[in-house]
Amino acid sequence: MEEMVNVYFYGKKYTVPAALTIQTAMEYAGYTLKRGVGCRHGFCGACATIYRIKGKNELKTGLACTTQVQEGMYITQIPYFPTDKRTYDINDLKANQKVMMELYPEIYSCIGCNACTKACPQSLKTMQYIAYAQRGDLKKCAEESFDCIMCGTCSVRCPAGISHPMVGLLARRLNGKYIEPEAKHLTKRVEEINNGDFDSAMAEMMAKPIDEVKDLYNNREIEK
Ligand code: SF4
Ligand code: SF4
Ligand code: FES
Repeated sequence: MEEMVNVYFYGKKYTVPAALTIQTAMEYAGYTLKRGVGCRHGFCGACATIYRIKGKNELKTGLACTTQVQEGMYITQIPYFPTDKRTYDINDLKANQKVMMELYPEIYSCIGCNACTKACPQSLKTMQYIAYAQRGDLKKCAEESFDCIMCGTCSVRCPAGISHPMVGLLARRLNGKYIEPEAKHLTKRVEEINNGDFDSAMAEMMAKPIDEVKDLYNNREIEK
């Protein structure tokens, strides 16, 4: 017989198969997920989730699509976390030490508690990439935050109110625009797209049945 566990979604108890993820267990329990779900495979950051195991003190975080249910889990989702993204035009910025100080000065209030790193479902060194941002080392901040999926879980836990994913995003944008060498093939491809060189190919693709599009995608040539 299939092993079952008791979990609580938004405070209501459900008995669900132990092999399910939080996401599939919610669907098993009858929820239709419209928010808080996207790629279903740990890439999009839509399904940030907070849970606590009954009787344990620690508040845990994870992605609903990749975290397996456990007995006694009290679960709630945070499909959107209000991070604080400053408004800027990347063309007006300079990739220097002052840029973080001006746009995200709260990073200097970090108390080094490491709660952000512990909360990250991507196992990123979140506190470290904030430290690189403090020092104005935009390249290192960009590299360390490269796999950030913008789920906001780290920011939920930060006592300094830092919006980590937005800090990492700014560093990656500045790094891509001003620090890394230009990717000439990309510039060329963008020009081709803007010239309309692919318009007819796109129209042809859009007219195909969905299964044929899937086949084309699955058998596409992958750049090495
Ligand atoms: S750094 Fe923060 S926003 Fe990015 S993946 Fe980790 S927890 Fe999510
Ligand atoms: S959670 Fe906030 S205060 Fe704590 S280490 Fe991370 S950035 Fe610093
Ligand atoms: S649904 Fe995309 S990360 Fe979970």
